[in-house]
Amino acid sequence: MFRAPPSGTVDRLFAAARHIRELEHKVISALEQAGYSEVMVPLIERDEVFSSDSTVRFVDRHGELLGLRADFTGPVARVVSTRLGNEPVVRLSYRGEVFRDVDARSARRRQLQQAGYELVDSGDVASDAEAIGLAFKISDAIGLQNVRLSLGSAELIHALCPNADASIRRALDRRDRSRLPVELLPVLELTGGVEMLARAKRDLPATARPALDRLSRVVDTLDENAKRTVIDLAEVRPWAYYTGIVFDLFADGSSGPVAGGGRYDSLAGRYGKSRPAVGASFQLDAVAEIQRDITGTRAEKGLVVALPKGRILKGVLERLGALGPTASELESRKLIVSGGAPLLGTPISFLRVKDADVPAYVEHGVADLGIVGLDVLEEKPASVLEPLDTGLGRCRLCLCGRPGTSAAELSAKGVLRVATKYPKVTRLELELRGLAAEIVPLEGSVELAVLANLADLIVDMVETGATLRANGLVELEELMSSSARVIVGRGAWRLKQDAVRALLSALKEKT
Ligand code: PRP
Repeated sequence: MFRAPPSGTVDRLFAAARHIRELEHKVISALEQAGYSEVMVPLIERDEVFSSDSTVRFVDRHGELLGLRADFTGPVARVVSTRLGNEPVVRLSYRGEVFRDVDARSARRRQLQQAGYELVDSGDVASDAEAIGLAFKISDAIGLQNVRLSLGSAELIHALCPNADASIRRALDRRDRSRLPVELLPVLELTGGVEMLARAKRDLPATARPALDRLSRVVDTLDENAKRTVIDLAEVRPWAYYTGIVFDLFADGSSGPVAGGGRYDSLAGRYGKSRPAVGASFQLDAVAEIQRDITGTRAEKGLVVALPKGRILKGVLERLGALGPTASELESRKLIVSGGAPLLGTPISFLRVKDADVPAYVEHGVADLGIVGLDVLEEKPASVLEPLDTGLGRCRLCLCGRPGTSAAELSAKGVLRVATKYPKVTRLELELRGLAAEIVPLEGSVELAVLANLADLIVDMVETGATLRANGLVELEELMSSSARVIVGRGAWRLKQDAVRALLSALKEKT
């Protein structure tokens, strides 16, 4: 009987295994030369060691809640604080697997190969510079091309918005202005070469000054690497523990960061004395993926757009104008079509995909950007940026049913059955309203489920209301509103920045 490994994990045979081991070896050797010694930490730890909310957790026979290693930073902070407390300077490296409890149906990996380093010392600017310099050095040692380091500051974000919680950090990470507090909006515009810091000092309030001064001092140490550095003050890493610089590293062909890190001065404090520390880790799967791409398609210079086939297509084409595919291309059954005119000299091609598939094409870096309704994005979350609400395809996700129906009464009486194309969002929204329900996932024509008594109610998009009216149904409650967003892949945002920004302004709602 054929048994594949669990989804989200892979077997690596021979050359593939050798490739990962060689990459590990190159990273660890480069670090050794720089005075970093390797440590090995357990694959399981007490759950509180990990900061990730996607830790794979389990209870051991003694009732202790444990987690599979979700990152190296937590275990290393524990080791430094409990074993190396008297060492004034610690330079260490590590390599191995980390595990994440992600939705394995999303083609995301649950097991990742990492190698990285941590520097624990006085926490000066020189240590930040050393950590960044090492990231470049390792990138060169493993043969990455056209490396770009995106540099921001968690200290700056704390200064501008002391109460920034996980949801705000997430919105910033996605460049989603619709969910950001007003004090953080200016940082979305503060991205560019290292000269951007001068503008930031002029534009941001005085509270930002200490963080910006520190960042300037770090940037002054970059020398030749300054050319490979992009200041992006909206750069945050999703974890709350960062307290100073944060950076992500991209290279030709990467759909997302191949490495990332930053300063976290209080993490070790969980186990005793706080110690300033800065570090980074390389995603060796991502590096291997780039180097496996022998056709070089991912590094292709043009811009690739995932074009949704559904209702919003018409509006999107109007906005694209001459940049969009010609009418005859669209009438053909071709799934990859070229754009009419280049943008800033960059040719554009379009992948014609079903709306619900747009996030997958963009997240995996096959398309640089795509246009998709917020409803789809909420149902199929993807690790992408969400920098523009086009205002197209405005509609509302509503709980609907026959006139006079009450969801609360039905739910109180027995099992409420709700049919929908949006099972994930529906479950969440009904739970928020205290409604227990059985969800019936459907692919389309959802109204029929009530008419044919498959379900008591539906949760569906209402645009004009015509479908509801034609079928004698009514809207009972609005759950969320939606419109089409432009989503951008993390690699494209960094590596094709100018063309991406130019296309965003073409797609913007003209007011
Ligand atoms: C959507 C939605 C509703 C209808 C609402 O379906 O699921 O059925 O549009 O639009 P209205 O308020 O303007 O009538 P869609 O047409 O995408 O087809 P589907 O039902 O087959 O998914």
